Amino acid sequence: MSEENKEILKINNLDITFRTTAGPVHAIRGVDIDLFKGETVAIVGESGSGKSVTMKAAMGILASNATVTNGTIEFSYHHADGSPETVDILTKNKKWIRRHINGKRIAMVFQDPMTSLDPTMTIGKQIMEGMIWHFKTPKKEAWDKAVSLLKEVGIEDAEKRMKNYPHQLSGGMRQRVVIAIALACNPDLLICDEPTTALDVTIQAKIIELIRRVQKERGISVIYITHDLGVVAKVADYVNVMYAGKIVEKGKIDEIFYDPKHPYTWGLLSAMPDLDTDDERLYTIPGSPPNLLHEKAGDAFAPRNRYALEIDDKADPPMFQVTDTHYAATWLLDPRAPKVEMPKELADRLKRMKKEASDYGRE
Ligand SMILES: Nc1ncnc2c1ncn2[C@@H]1O[C@H](COP(=O)(O)OP(=O)(O)OP(=O)(O)O)[C@@H](O)[C@H]1O
Ligand SMILES: [Mg+2]
Repeated sequence: MSEENKEILKINNLDITFRTTAGPVHAIRGVDIDLFKGETVAIVGESGSGKSVTMKAAMGILASNATVTNGTIEFSYHHADGSPETVDILTKNKKWIRRHINGKRIAMVFQDPMTSLDPTMTIGKQIMEGMIWHFKTPKKEAWDKAVSLLKEVGIEDAEKRMKNYPHQLSGGMRQRVVIAIALACNPDLLICDEPTTALDVTIQAKIIELIRRVQKERGISVIYITHDLGVVAKVADYVNVMYAGKIVEKGKIDEIFYDPKHPYTWGLLSAMPDLDTDDERLYTIPGSPPNLLHEKAGDAFAPRNRYALEIDDKADPPMFQVTDTHYAATWLLDPRAPKVEMPKELADRLKRMKKEASDYGRE
């Protein structure tokens, strides 16, 4: 296999349960995610669907009441001498992961920059910290690298900013600093967990643009977690749609946007704001995600699904294959199922989006 299409992260059949005083919460149920070098994979789904927990597992930072009951998380990287290595993160202890993975080979950008920055430390120190800890980089060299990182993420007066504390920066600038910290050790994989939700719309667009640019320039792989399909359209090569701890549809970006098969994906796409639909008319998926404390038989989405079949209440649908790269877990794809098309309004909307995309050319 050539370096270019090498798989760097392979999550296989991951199952996670949390112990709570109310009982076990089966939060992640058989999740598979594949990520290849240089690509961007989005994980999209409503609040509580398991996006963050999945990625925390990959970084070895699950809460102490979590138990991984099944699965593997294979991460591939190169040692300093160039020799390749693949490890199952789940078999490693926290100390090993901190030493060899976190911040060094996998870096994470969280939703709220304030929680990931130390208010008592200058931003310069915070950018230099990882380089000094992981690579014993001499201080002067770490300083110079930090200054160039600040420039790379679009911060002016970088030398002066090095001495600032987080509260002296705007929200957008703080998120840029968090990205600079994440890039400081040259990671192979950047995980962005809702990196723009705390920011206003114009700043959001700039941060998304920044992440795309550094990804292209550095050739790193990115996992982008969001509940916003509008963001997904701008960043992703592949999309995983999550619902109640399961991947319910996955495919290439065009397959998910122009030929979605799962009624939940139809709902998410219909609920996506765009320029042509005013907010009042915007669709919302009825009901709310299930309480994972009370597992029920059948498809977890059935109670909210107006296309649900009788079998949905009895058995969880398997992943049906649509193309080599496109899969969806809905009984509607069973050969015995009645033929059901997506709502006409959504079909029209997707057609319009497709036309706009070809008119303007998605980079
Ligand atoms: N430490 C914990 N103890 C118990 N339950 C937890 C814990 N952490 C997460 N969960 C549960 O796991 C499920 C998935 O949570 P997760 O944070 O991954 O959701 P998410 O998709 O990232 O949502 P959001 O969009 O709100 O960030 C939720 O039902 C949540 O309540
Ligand atoms: Mg989350």
